[in-house]
Amino acid sequence: MNQETSKTVLILGANSDVAKQAVKQYVETGFSVIAASRNTNSLESFVEANNLHAKVTALYFDSIDFDSHQKFYNELPVKPHIVVYAAGFLVENEKALTDFKGAQQMMQVNYMGAVSILNIIAMDKSNKNLERIIGLSSLSGVRGRKSNFVYGSTKAAFTTYLAGLRQELASRNIKVNALVIGYINTKINVGLELNKNLIMEPDYVAKFIVNAGNSFSIVPNFKWKMIYLILKMLPESLVAKLP
Ligand SMILES: NC(=O)c1ccc[n+]([C@@H]2O[C@H](COP(=O)([O-])OP(=O)(O)OC[C@H]3O[C@@H](n4cnc5c(N)ncnc54)[C@H](OP(=O)(O)O)[C@@H]3O)[C@@H](O)[C@H]2O)c1
Repeated sequence: MNQETSKTVLILGANSDVAKQAVKQYVETGFSVIAASRNTNSLESFVEANNLHAKVTALYFDSIDFDSHQKFYNELPVKPHIVVYAAGFLVENEKALTDFKGAQQMMQVNYMGAVSILNIIAMDKSNKNLERIIGLSSLSGVRGRKSNFVYGSTKAAFTTYLAGLRQELASRNIKVNALVIGYINTKINVGLELNKNLIMEPDYVAKFIVNAGNSFSIVPNFKWKMIYLILKMLPESLVAKLP
């Protein structure tokens, strides 16, 4: 359903498989989208293939080029109503434990880059448009587990940042949501063996982004919601028995 709106969504890391579905769904809902990514060629092909050019502007954005973030924000064609931070990077835990470069890149993309650009956006009080910031976080950040705690710790930090940002922005009536997501069928997971019964499709997860409401934590899918609640309550001695 297309309810025309003059509102603009800024999606950071928009070449993500989930973000691309969110781009489509925001446009279907009547929003304009600024899709920001370090791979503008791929984004532009996607925009072309889906006939979205009337409503989508693709811009170059690199999460880990921190020094470029202020200029990127200053030069936006319009200041956003909604901001989605979708950029993410993953290396397997074993690699992250033995090769600091991979661990560092996860910290930079999943946490530092988010804080860098979202601080700039959130602290611009002159942007009266801003009404919501959404971060794509992960269930891996809920408890430290031996199979993925380096990646998980970057997502835990991101979720904690978003929770505080929500409090910081409440007086300006700006909502902040953390999507706490389980497995999705996207390119970040290529080569990983994941439980097929738990894998969600990108367009399904995108619906939870586009329809984000008042709750801080949004956990797409009933099975993942149960896993999330159990994980939160489990004593550390039992978490230590999980993979
Ligand atoms: N898939 C899952 O199971 C899962 C679960 C929980 C949370 N998440 C989170 O969901 C978000 C979206 O991931 P996805 O599943 O859609 O995987 P994806 O398709 O691999 O998307 C990740 C995106 O992050 C972008 N990115 C990486 N480094 C960047 C940088 N320096 N600057 C700008 N963009 C950068 C990548 O850009 P390029 O396309 O240029 O490489 C890629 O488009 C991520 O934050 C991910 O951590 C995913």
